[in-house]
Amino acid sequence: MGIENDIAGDWHAALAALAWQVDLGLSDISAESPLNRYELPEPIKAPAPKPVIAAPKVTQPPPELEAPNPDAAIFEARAAANHCETLEALREALAAFEHCELKRGARNLVFADGNPKARVLILGEAPGVEEDREGRPFVGRAGQLLDRMFAAIGLARTSPDPETALYITNTLPWRPPQNRDPSLAEIAMMRPFVERHIALVNPDVIVLVGNTPLQTMLNTKGILRLRGIWTEALGKPVLPMTHPAYLLRNPAAKREAWADLLSLQAKLRG
Ligand code: URA
Repeated sequence: MGIENDIAGDWHAALAALAWQVDLGLSDISAESPLNRYELPEPIKAPAPKPVIAAPKVTQPPPELEAPNPDAAIFEARAAANHCETLEALREALAAFEHCELKRGARNLVFADGNPKARVLILGEAPGVEEDREGRPFVGRAGQLLDRMFAAIGLARTSPDPETALYITNTLPWRPPQNRDPSLAEIAMMRPFVERHIALVNPDVIVLVGNTPLQTMLNTKGILRLRGIWTEALGKPVLPMTHPAYLLRNPAAKREAWADLLSLQAKLRG
C-alpha cells in the first residue's frame, strides 16, 4: 500500500509538472538532438561596416589656369575707357589693360596717328609687323597706299588743318600673331576703348577700312557688299571701304575705292 501510494504520488506530480510546462508554452517534449539550454548563445556579430565609397573628386583647374571671363573683361574695359577724359588718359588706360592676350606678344602699343582735330577718322583693323615695330598705325605697304588714296582727295595725316587732316587708329592696338584676323572676343573686349576713342576725337565722319572695323562698329561682316554705302554709328556718318591690303592684292578693286573716296569728298563738302 505504501509503495502504491508512492507510485501514484509520482504520477500525479509528473502530470502536474508537465501541465505547468504546457502552461508556460512548451509544445514539443523531444527533439532530434539533445539541446543544452544552458549554453550561452553565440554573440550576435555586428555586420561589418560597409566600405565608404569616396565621392569622385571634381578636379578644379588651379586658379591661374581658369578660363578668363569675357564678360568681366568687357566690363573692365568699359569702366576703364569711360573714365578717360583725354586721349593721353585713354592711351594709358589701354597700356594698363591686362585682359587682352595679344598684348603679351606685341612689341608696342599702336594707339593712333594724325591730327586729333581732323574731321575724318579712319578706323583700321590691327597693327601689322611694321606698325608693331614702330608703334604707329598704317606705316607698312598698305599704309603707304592708304596715304596715297586719301592724298588724292586732299587729306593727309600730317595736315595741321582739321579740314584737310586725318586721324588714324585701329580696332586692336596690339598685333595679332602671324597677322591673323582678330577674334570676335577680342573685338568685343576692345570695343569700349574704340568707342571712347571716337567720342574723344569727335570727328565729323568715320571711315571703316575692312571687315574688322565693320564688325566693331556695325556688328556685321561683308565689306565687299557694304563698301561705299553710307550708314551711321555712334550718331555719326560712317563709310565702309575696302582695306588697302585688299586693294594691293586686287588692284581692279581700286576703281570702286576711288568712287568711295569721291563720295567721302562730297560728304565733307556738303
Ligand atoms: N592694317 C590695319 O588695319 N592697320 C594697320 O595699322 C596696319 C595694317
